[in-house]
Amino acid sequence: MRVAIPEPESDLSQDEESILVEVDDEWKEVRLHDYAELYATPGLYERVVYDALRCQSPTVVAELLDAELARADDAAEDLRVLDLGAGNGCAAEALSEIGVNEFVGVDICREAAFAAGRDRAGLYSHYVVGDVTDLQDSDADKLRARDFNCMVCVAALGFSDIPPAVFLEAYDYVQDGGWVAFTIKSDFLVAGDGSGFSGLVRTMIGTGALELKVEKKFTHRISTDGSALPYVALVGRKRSSHSLD
Ligand SMILES: C[S@@+](CC[C@H](N)C(=O)[O-])C[C@H]1O[C@@H](n2cnc3c(N)ncnc32)[C@H](O)[C@@H]1O
Repeated sequence: MRVAIPEPESDLSQDEESILVEVDDEWKEVRLHDYAELYATPGLYERVVYDALRCQSPTVVAELLDAELARADDAAEDLRVLDLGAGNGCAAEALSEIGVNEFVGVDICREAAFAAGRDRAGLYSHYVVGDVTDLQDSDADKLRARDFNCMVCVAALGFSDIPPAVFLEAYDYVQDGGWVAFTIKSDFLVAGDGSGFSGLVRTMIGTGALELKVEKKFTHRISTDGSALPYVALVGRKRSSHSLD
């Protein structure tokens, strides 16, 4: 599949970026945050985000979690993972390579669930489509019954993606002591940022609701103008639930 990066435009924010893709002999422009469009064509998300733009978030999270599990003498095989903003399963696939084998996906985008089943059949034992703050009782009951001891959220926080309330609601489904691993744009952790995550993460760590084990700065991917996008990966253990107020 051929992709091309448009002539760099100045000051495009990360959620305004787009890429040109040749599908069935036609070139079309696809916005990188138009997930429904990206997931609709098999292989397109991987080709654009991982090959062309060199995304590293799933690998970084898998490596950090693997090291922390080893340090705690916990087995990856024992994890029951809630994958928030699961997409078509790239993060879960990276975790499966360190031995994790039980995943439930949650994503607001119906096309993501379809693509996960199509591209990574059998990876998720269950996949919920919807907003976790507004689930049907039957979906909420299914999530609760899984008794998750791990939650991951890779490359899905902030922008018009996952807001703090959704992150916290998913966090609530994880048992105390469970592992929590996520990546977030570095700017969203700077005091006073508008995403709401800098205050939230700081408070969760400060109050002890989240026991931070490791934090690593890394390049999530390159942007369409070739510059590096700085992110932070955090791995910790849930010690208690947390609410926004
Ligand atoms: C950049 S993709 C990351 C997908 C996957 N975690 C990965 O690493 O490849 C972000 C995902 O977050 C999902 N998302 C955005 N807002 C969401 C919300 N409020 N609740 C759940 N998922 C959401 C999008 O649909 C998309 O699949």
